[in-house]
Amino acid sequence: MNVVPKPFESKLTGGTTRFSASTRVDCQIDVIKEELGFLDYEEGDANTATFEIGQTDYDYELTIDGNVNVVSATNEGLFHGAMTLKQLIFDGYHEGVADLDNCVIKDKPRFEHRSFMLDIVRHFFDKDVIKSLIDVLALVKMNTLHLHLSDNQGYRVESQAYPVLNEKGNLRKGTRGDGIPVGGYLTKDDVREIVRYAGDRFIDVVPEVDLPGHTLELLVAMPELGCTGEQFELTERYGIDHRILCAGREENYEVIENLLKELAELFPSKYFHLGGDEVPKTQWQNCEKCQSTMKREGLKNEEELQGYFTNRVIKVLKSLDKTPIVWNEALYSNMLDDSAVCQFWSDGRKCLRVRDALKKGRKIIVSRTNPYYIDYPHGMNSLRSAYNFEPTSPFNGDGIENILGVETPLWTEWVADVDKLHRQAFPRVMAVAETGWSTGDKNYKDFEERLYNVLGILEAYEIGYVHPQKANPNPIKAAGQTLKFFINMIDVDAIRSLKNMQNAKKGRKSN
Ligand code: ACM
Ligand code: ZN
Repeated sequence: MNVVPKPFESKLTGGTTRFSASTRVDCQIDVIKEELGFLDYEEGDANTATFEIGQTDYDYELTIDGNVNVVSATNEGLFHGAMTLKQLIFDGYHEGVADLDNCVIKDKPRFEHRSFMLDIVRHFFDKDVIKSLIDVLALVKMNTLHLHLSDNQGYRVESQAYPVLNEKGNLRKGTRGDGIPVGGYLTKDDVREIVRYAGDRFIDVVPEVDLPGHTLELLVAMPELGCTGEQFELTERYGIDHRILCAGREENYEVIENLLKELAELFPSKYFHLGGDEVPKTQWQNCEKCQSTMKREGLKNEEELQGYFTNRVIKVLKSLDKTPIVWNEALYSNMLDDSAVCQFWSDGRKCLRVRDALKKGRKIIVSRTNPYYIDYPHGMNSLRSAYNFEPTSPFNGDGIENILGVETPLWTEWVADVDKLHRQAFPRVMAVAETGWSTGDKNYKDFEERLYNVLGILEAYEIGYVHPQKANPNPIKAAGQTLKFFINMIDVDAIRSLKNMQNAKKGRKSN
């Protein structure tokens, strides 16, 4: 049965059922009818495809036996059933009708959080691109789209609270001196449209405002938010920047509160991502306000100052009824509010701090760079490695029930157009989607065989992808791709960025 992610249980029951223009789709959910009408159908046997709310121990049950019947306790489950049916229809389609193998499928997810992240800062992607990505996420039963909205290179949402963010914090002059301006942001109407489109497909859109590092765009728009008050320009470089938000200036907390309020109103998601990664502390070490705040609050070092800062921002999020998510560095103060979910991307070879947090009950989303960073070339993170990665494997079994799920992030430093975006994302997103959803043993060959059907749907949607063979390059090609990726990253500022990384790590115990 060519379905991705693989259903929990499926059984062929013999014979086939024809899905055609004469199949009456009996369903209260318009978007399901829309999704199932994705091919042109000819007239055929008159039968029905019924979607009904009912009692089941599964997310949904799908029966094909002359008619099609989907039962679920929730509309979300009915939608998931429809996505399975959509794949079966595509697989069985020929000459205007689809012949479906009769079967019974009982399905449910392994993890509650199945997510894809898109960075729309380093390069901007508009609402239509984002909506077409949502189509694919829905098809493979992912339920979260995390949008990285702010970083050193720009602020990517319309702000009425601080229009200066769009005036000054939008257009960077180029990338490493190439003179090609890069800008763009989502209007509030764009966001509403994306959120509605995703919500119709049971996908939550989680905004991320990265704080207190990766905030040059805020300082460009409002220099007073920095430790030095200097006027900067958006950077044309990537990597870690030492220019960060002042944690000692009281008024900054008010600005952050206003920004978060504005975004929380736009994004109805349960979660709100606060960033917290890669925060060099040099400016804080040399700032009177930061230092006097540390003294006043009895904070031992700048790491604790980040903890203090983050907890204050979390308080605002809580008042807005949001659950915070932070990147794993935000744990390192050892004082992070318990409510914050930690997104694990990189925590030293032994992952000791995230392991410890998990053991103590912290909720974790697994996005480890290898193999889940799909901005990396396939030679570094192949489709096969993304598929085979077991998200509990870094943690020795301790507290693994606290793993909420998985996310595959796509950073866009080196992704400037939609074609590249699709080729980086697909089919690796499908591998992570299957890990997030499916239970039981993995078999890459079996996954790849089922995958071609989904890739056919992408072709029908004119969405690009990399052929699975190319997504698993041989060792020589893999080494070449890896070398090229790193050589491309090297410039004088990469060295500065490395220094900043050292500063970000300073004072923390290494593992
Ligand atoms: C990250 O990749 N800096 C979270
Ligand atoms: Zn400061």
